[in-house]
Amino acid sequence: MARQKWGSRWAFVLAAIGSAAGLGNAWRFPYMAYQNGGGAFYIPYFVALFIAGIPILMAEFAIGQGFQASAPKALGKISKNAEFIGWWAVITGSIITFYYNVIMAWIFNYLYHSLGVAWKDNPKGFFFGDFLKLTDGPGQLGGLRWPIVIGLLISWLWIYMILRKGTESVGKTVMWTVPLPVILLLLLGIRGITLPGAATGLNYLFQPNFAKLADARVWANAFGQIFFSLSVAFGIMIAYGSYNNKKNDVANNAIITALGNSATSFLAGIAVFSVLGYMAQQMNVQVNEVVSGGVGLAFVVYPQAISLIPGGPIVQSIIGLAFFIMLLTLGIDSAFSLVEAIEAAAGDKFKVNKKSFLIGFSILGFILDYYSLHRAVYIG
Ligand code: PFF
Repeated sequence: MARQKWGSRWAFVLAAIGSAAGLGNAWRFPYMAYQNGGGAFYIPYFVALFIAGIPILMAEFAIGQGFQASAPKALGKISKNAEFIGWWAVITGSIITFYYNVIMAWIFNYLYHSLGVAWKDNPKGFFFGDFLKLTDGPGQLGGLRWPIVIGLLISWLWIYMILRKGTESVGKTVMWTVPLPVILLLLLGIRGITLPGAATGLNYLFQPNFAKLADARVWANAFGQIFFSLSVAFGIMIAYGSYNNKKNDVANNAIITALGNSATSFLAGIAVFSVLGYMAQQMNVQVNEVVSGGVGLAFVVYPQAISLIPGGPIVQSIIGLAFFIMLLTLGIDSAFSLVEAIEAAAGDKFKVNKKSFLIGFSILGFILDYYSLHRAVYIG
């Protein structure tokens, strides 16, 4: 059977940008930059991008495209012993998928909770108490949190629907799931910088601390951020490249992908830190007392800032919706790209039927996520 192909070059480039631009751009990059020298962080960041990120991205596109195969098979063609590296990559990548889907499940719930700003003035209590219903420790099990289970079901179903028809359905999806979060980030950024105190927040993000550049950890963080952010080393970009024609322009595609991804990160930095500046001013505290990243930023700090934004509950609900739709559409393309890498690898090796594999994997993912939710981590 002929290998499936992207409908257009843009379908491929957007899918690659979609995989790269994920939750990490919104909640990891701004925090990393802030902690690692502010404006000075851009120096190691761009060094890492140009000497490692872009060349590795080019290599992955070229390997997929040249061998017309996913990671394990393509690497196996380079050297028989290298095939296992491809398997290792896609299998470790699946751990990220399982994690991503739990967060997506929470975000689905927060779309609903944004209506009427359900967390009111206690987003922390709402998140850990009302929403997750955390118990005192992992040893103490609670009941299932049905809203989260339903969110999880929707996430896996969505991924299945997107991947079901391969490049055709992925191509149609990324035409809107990649531009939409960028537009929402722009709107959130504009709202952010027009709030009083925004400049103070942005100062925290951009003020360069060059002394930090002498610290090797800052450089390691920059390289780590670039690798994670470009989604390299998980076999995704090889799989995506393999659906190109052999003669596609690898260098340009890699540069556009990398710069599109970085632009999304910078935009997120502005949208997040302007609002943090405003929030610090409203609460009469220093910006560094409110800064956070990861889950804390998305589900506690940003919601808290939303409750402080003027305009009443309707305006606040709209901003909440915009924020969580932004996270959802940013995250979905990263989540399904990992599943696609695994599916492509299995398809090339075992000639398994695409749809059956996807159904099986989604059910497995759902059960694993559900099980970890129930057993250990987020227990109600
Ligand atoms: N690049 C994604 C982000 O920055 O959020 C995360 C990611 C997705 C990493 C897929 C690795 C991966 F294989």
